[in-house]
Amino acid sequence: MTNIEKFREEIEQFRSEKLEEIEQFRSKFLGKKGLLIALFDEIKNIPPAERKDFGQGINHLKQTVLEKYAALKAAYEAAHAEQRETPDLTRPANRIPLGARHPISIVTRQLCDVFKKIGYTVAEGPDIEDDWHNFGALNFPPEHPARDMQDTFFVDPGVLLRTHTSPVQARVMEANRPPIRVVCPGRVFRNEAITARAHCIFHQVEILCIDEHISFADLKQTLDFFVREMFGKDRRIRLRPSYFPFTEPSAEMDISCDICNGKGCNICKGSGWVEILGCGMVDPNVLSLNGIDPEKYSGFAIGIGVERTTQQLYKTKDIRLFFENDIRFLGQFEAL
Ligand code: DAH
Repeated sequence: MTNIEKFREEIEQFRSEKLEEIEQFRSKFLGKKGLLIALFDEIKNIPPAERKDFGQGINHLKQTVLEKYAALKAAYEAAHAEQRETPDLTRPANRIPLGARHPISIVTRQLCDVFKKIGYTVAEGPDIEDDWHNFGALNFPPEHPARDMQDTFFVDPGVLLRTHTSPVQARVMEANRPPIRVVCPGRVFRNEAITARAHCIFHQVEILCIDEHISFADLKQTLDFFVREMFGKDRRIRLRPSYFPFTEPSAEMDISCDICNGKGCNICKGSGWVEILGCGMVDPNVLSLNGIDPEKYSGFAIGIGVERTTQQLYKTKDIRLFFENDIRFLGQFEAL
């Protein structure tokens, strides 16, 4: 019994905040070779009359050890849990993922910047247009196939999603007197099947220059400047005669395909050349239709395909990538 009393005192006085010491305390009393087992072993040597008290004494002692151990362990864990919750102010902050400008926006801006350098200002028009600005004011005859339901998304009779950015030309002429120099970026819509080369939504940048004595030579100089600024001095270009209702004469401009280096691929349809713009001298009819005297003024217009330009600059093989918003694709433009 004296041993029991001695141990009880030891247990009650034991203090520690160290896990190792707390564990040592546990095994000293409760372990397989611990003091309590030794005491239980003693029972057989105790005179029968005292056994009951002795047994109760050990049980009580065991209870005390268990409680003490649980209390020490809980205190230790509480202390350490608190430590874990204290923020580490020296820890580097989590990286906030940076957004990226969309490649089409990057190139649209670049295109506008090229023309801003030579005195053009930005003008914009609505995505939902009326038939007059999209077609009529641009000299499209009433039966022109581009007005057909197959190409144009109609909102209401006479109201449509613009099929090109050329209606901005009409709006600018309507509201301004020459000299006019504008660059008009925008989204356009056509009822076309979606493939690697074509989409029902795409982007154009329209150029309009009107003044006295503007000639085709001015147009060519401007195109030349644009290609050098955008693609570098080594890119080859070719102009092919073409037809647009709002220009006369008209041309389309191709650049040598950089994706296959002129060898031929799915983007240039194997020809080594990609069409990136239409252009021409503004048809005198268009000037008259929009209140500008064709006897006094002349001008040129250009319509650049932004997707085609972007594909050439970034060697993007499939136009659909521009519309799917796949973060793995867009993230590659983070630094631009
Ligand atoms: N609007 C034409 C199209 O979408 C492109 C175009 C051609 C624009 C010639 C022009 C131009 O300004 O002069 O197909």
